[in-house]
Amino acid sequence: MIKNNITFDFDQRISRHATGSVKWDALGKVFGSEDILPLWIADMDFPSPEAVSTKLNERASHPIYGYNTQESSLYQSIIEWLKRRHGWEIEKDWILFAPGVVPSITLSILALSEPGDGIIIQPPVYPPFFDSIKDNNREVVENPLVFKDSLYEIDFEDLDKKLSNPKNKLLLLCSPHNPVGRVWREEELRKIYELCQKYKVDVLSDEIHSDLVFDGHKHTVFASLGTPICKQSVTFMAASKTFNVAGLNFSFIIVPCKRRRALIEGWMHRLHMNRNNLFGVLATEVAYQEGNAWLDALLSYLEENADVLVDFVKTRLIGVKVNKPEGTYLAWLDFRAYFTDAKELEHFLVHTAKVGLNSGGNFGIQGKGFARINLATQRSVLLEALTRIEKALKLKLSETTKHL
Ligand SMILES: Cc1ncc(COP(=O)(O)O)c(C=O)c1O
Repeated sequence: MIKNNITFDFDQRISRHATGSVKWDALGKVFGSEDILPLWIADMDFPSPEAVSTKLNERASHPIYGYNTQESSLYQSIIEWLKRRHGWEIEKDWILFAPGVVPSITLSILALSEPGDGIIIQPPVYPPFFDSIKDNNREVVENPLVFKDSLYEIDFEDLDKKLSNPKNKLLLLCSPHNPVGRVWREEELRKIYELCQKYKVDVLSDEIHSDLVFDGHKHTVFASLGTPICKQSVTFMAASKTFNVAGLNFSFIIVPCKRRRALIEGWMHRLHMNRNNLFGVLATEVAYQEGNAWLDALLSYLEENADVLVDFVKTRLIGVKVNKPEGTYLAWLDFRAYFTDAKELEHFLVHTAKVGLNSGGNFGIQGKGFARINLATQRSVLLEALTRIEKALKLKLSETTKHL
């Protein structure tokens, strides 16, 4: 693939075995079987941009890895990235650094709500959303997405009802949405904005997938919609998904409101969360400075993978359904024509098809009979996995007809 006269090869398979990869090296522990092709946890089987590995190798060659500072060039790279790729102008003071998006969400829940408060989420949704709420003695309030005209949509009537309850203090938004792959349109976000303003509910917006958006769709930063909501929102972002540096544990939180920022910083101090990973900092800075062409090429490859998946499912996995994701590198496979029990589907995928996907049941009860597949792999791996599922479904069908 050529972008800006540079060639990127996303087809080349690079073994990740024995690299300490959760996706490839923990199969026995996670799935109870080593003999499976993994397309589950959300990292990519592609090398990060060369500029990132060069920078990290350069720094690693100096053998002292003591405490590090955050240079102003890091802030600048984030500010410029957000302006260039998302048209969002932010101030340096709004940025807080953190060791990951999930810890940052948890921290913000602690800072901006009280035990017993309700926090609204939109399932099926990224499983740690449930845990960050429940583990901190807040209540999960569900505003389930609805499947309409072959698209997952927000149920605004129900959202209005949930937001109007004064017990519910925060809305935790997943934008773009994992696992359904929606890139929320500006008018959808505006409706959320108006309701949250009306009921004075703060929005925690997880935008970790914001750079991974396909042609014809545009990510709108929720906090960029207007000043009042900007003050009422906290945005979570990272270079981790975009440039495949999730193992470096570095992310940032953007909090325009001084009061809310002080509350979140207060919790950071309490938890002594004021140090950041040296390599995560370097990778983020260089990726934002030099990763544009690589990301554009990656997006083309991922979108082609999404097309391959949709075509394969339509023509060869009869009865299974999938929507082409608008963003993220995740797709949500609907196996309900064959399985309604989450455990049975899991068993079938691992032991008959021999593929490792994320079980839909972990994304909320709405995910029963679904599985999430990670498309950020070489096309040959994706096709191998789909072919394994095809063969397993044929076997299942032949066994069913035998028993008739
Ligand atoms: C929506 C969403 N938020 C957060 C994360 C994880 O973020 P982190 O590893 O920075 O905690 C993921 C990873 O898959 C995700 O999909």
